[in-house]
Amino acid sequence: MKDRRYALIWGGSTITGQYAIQIAVEAGYRVIAVASERTRRRVSDLGAHHVITRDGRTPADIADEIRSIGQNKIVLGIDLVGPQTATHGLSCLSKSHPARFAPLAVPAPPIAAPSNVEIVNVEMKRFVLDPESRQYAVHLADLVGQGRVKVPKVIVLPGGLQEVEAGLTRVRNGDMGGSKLVVRFGTSKLSTDRT
Ligand SMILES: NC(=O)c1ccc[n+]([C@@H]2O[C@H](COP(=O)([O-])OP(=O)(O)OC[C@H]3O[C@@H](n4cnc5c(N)ncnc54)[C@H](OP(=O)(O)O)[C@@H]3O)[C@@H](O)[C@H]2O)c1
Repeated sequence: MKDRRYALIWGGSTITGQYAIQIAVEAGYRVIAVASERTRRRVSDLGAHHVITRDGRTPADIADEIRSIGQNKIVLGIDLVGPQTATHGLSCLSKSHPARFAPLAVPAPPIAAPSNVEIVNVEMKRFVLDPESRQYAVHLADLVGQGRVKVPKVIVLPGGLQEVEAGLTRVRNGDMGGSKLVVRFGTSKLSTDRT
């Protein structure tokens, strides 16, 4: 079982999903990721063994394909999209092996799970403030430094505060194609203000 464990990442092209795919591959999982036609190549390049494209398909149809690949061996699942895909993702997990599922895009209350599945909820603020979390940041930085984990592409909007609204619209429209958006704030105006 150990060498055939599967991990499901639903939302493989999200920024979080891109890291999750690479970390799961590093940990020895065979990775099944759900993405779009547009980002399929990127997700595949990150190491996902199976990329299922979602364009024009229902979550139920996608879940059928996931189950046919995973064959009751999916023991780790992460949903990065929402309640509907989280429910379908959970239904793809192994029915007989101990499994873990992290519905990261679903706010509390947590979804119900079969007895073999542990639901892992991550509250970002608490995670960041917990000193125990430092080890994960250090390990991830090591993996990035060694070139074993690639950071997502970054698109920089140079215009400062007035670019934020346009940037948010772009994110809302799903127009990022797997890139992270960063708004650059100039410092010269701030230092002028202080003098
Ligand atoms: N709890 C926590 O600690 C925690 C931490 C990090 C993130 N999150 C949550 O995780 C989610 C993802 O965050 P993010 O910043 O990584 O996302 P992001 O980079 O903004 O993800 C946007 C991408 O999601 C993909 N997507 C949209 N609908 C999809 C669908 N139905 N199936 C598969 N992919 C879909 C689209 O890519 P394609 O068009 O290529 O499919 C889109 O480009 C958010 O809900 C965020 O709040 C939670």
